[in-house]
Amino acid sequence: MVNTHIRVNIARSFSSATHSYDISARLQRYTGKHLMSKLPNRTDLNIVDLGCGTGFFTNILASKYQQVFGVDLSKKMLHFAEARSTHDIQWVEADAYKLPFENNSIDVIYSNLMIQWCNPLSDLLVEITRVLKPGGLFVFSTLVDGTLHELKSSWKQVDDDKHVIDFKKEETLIQTFENSPFKLLENDVKDIVLEYENVLHLARELKGLGANHVPDKTKKGLAGKDKWKKMTKHYQDFQEPSGVYPATYCAFSGIAVKLNV
Ligand SMILES: C[S@@+](CC[C@H](N)C(=O)[O-])C[C@H]1O[C@@H](n2cnc3c(N)ncnc32)[C@H](O)[C@@H]1O
Repeated sequence: MVNTHIRVNIARSFSSATHSYDISARLQRYTGKHLMSKLPNRTDLNIVDLGCGTGFFTNILASKYQQVFGVDLSKKMLHFAEARSTHDIQWVEADAYKLPFENNSIDVIYSNLMIQWCNPLSDLLVEITRVLKPGGLFVFSTLVDGTLHELKSSWKQVDDDKHVIDFKKEETLIQTFENSPFKLLENDVKDIVLEYENVLHLARELKGLGANHVPDKTKKGLAGKDKWKKMTKHYQDFQEPSGVYPATYCAFSGIAVKLNV
């Protein structure tokens, strides 16, 4: 079952981050570039940038491929992307679970750091296989368990609430693909450690990315000052001798092909 309420909140969270997104998107730039190298060389293809955000990679795709669609749940992100776009791109406001494309019509779906927001993933894969042509490719990156483990464990010492979204285990992700009409041709996981001046810097970056929304948090709103203080104290255990605060992101990239079934 697709949870519309959760989608609305995700869209709202990303919409509010539209103007701060690009300066906070260090991780997204890194994984997105890595994914670009996995795309097919043929240029006479149509391609969808699924969860295109501010359209940074959509424009790069449009400099190469014949027909490009930028799809996102957030209207504000799409307006921003369209306003600064330098290429002929069709911008589409849509939920990845209900794509406005015909069956078997798309050659490639590129998706950089979007599917970690999608639950259940199996339903999303059904929708993506519906629109892909047989032999079509799904080239994607996502985050897996271990991501932000420093922040998670620091919060764990303060209370039982959920302050960081749950990222799937690598094995679960692979299993979901194995049970789908896709064959995973390639996959890899890379731990990317970004450095922050302090914990507030990390929190601001997550907010700037719109990635601070936690769907199943029990207590809504900001944590109290005392709790925040306690959490940052625990985070000091991870502080490096140089004084910087690390945060780990476990980035999973994959290429999956739609089987001819
Ligand atoms: C972390 S941003 C990545 C943006 C872009 N791909 C990039 O590399 O900068 C995730 C994007 O996915 C979008 N998104 C999340 N869930 C979505 C869904 N179910 N359908 C379409 N877009 C979605 C958000 O609105 C947001 O713009």
